Amino acid sequence: MAPKAVVYTVFLAIWVVGLALLGACSDAGSGLWATSKAPSEDALAEDATCSDELTSPKVAPMAAAMRAMLLQAETMRAYLVSDSAQSSPPPAWAPMPFEKQTPTDSNVVTPDFLRRASDYHKAFEKVGREPTPEHFNAVVAQCVQCHESNCPGPIKRINRLRIEI
Ligand code: HEC
Repeated sequence: MAPKAVVYTVFLAIWVVGLALLGACSDAGSGLWATSKAPSEDALAEDATCSDELTSPKVAPMAAAMRAMLLQAETMRAYLVSDSAQSSPPPAWAPMPFEKQTPTDSNVVTPDFLRRASDYHKAFEKVGREPTPEHFNAVVAQCVQCHESNCPGPIKRINRLRIEI
């Protein structure tokens, strides 16, 4: 190989590895770091964490609240896309004061975080009053918005909640 070609190849290799690392940071749940850990049977634990304690069975109260919120949202989504949405009562839609729970990392609770939490609760209430796909998607948008700044791991999973209208 000519010296020039060698330089080019090395440069290309560095670039590709750099891209892979970038990808890992923007999707903490399924990126490079996650794959180096033991794969979990539990899909929730697998792509739903922003700390590196993937294998820890103990989660902080705020993380536990988030799991309950995810389940509740999945149930509401199933109801809204089903044929019975017009004729049967909606599933439980209980507010979850997650911002009052102890988080894994106490630094997440900032004035900005509390403002996002309050926006989330407003969107959440609207679904309770009027469960429509539009109002539901507004809640999902609030989940994503907060997660973009605080906890990118579960975003892919949260996005799957969105209802095509
Ligand atoms: C105001 C910010 C905020 C909003 C709104 C929010 N989250 Fe979270 N979420 C967080 C933070 C911070 C964590 C990390 C909690 C911890 O580890 O203690 C988290 C963690 C999670 C987790 C991972 C829990 C685990 O097992 O570690 C899931 C799943 C999740 N959120 C889903 C949702 C869903 C679904 C919604 C909307 C219905 C939502 N979140 C709304 C900030 C938010």
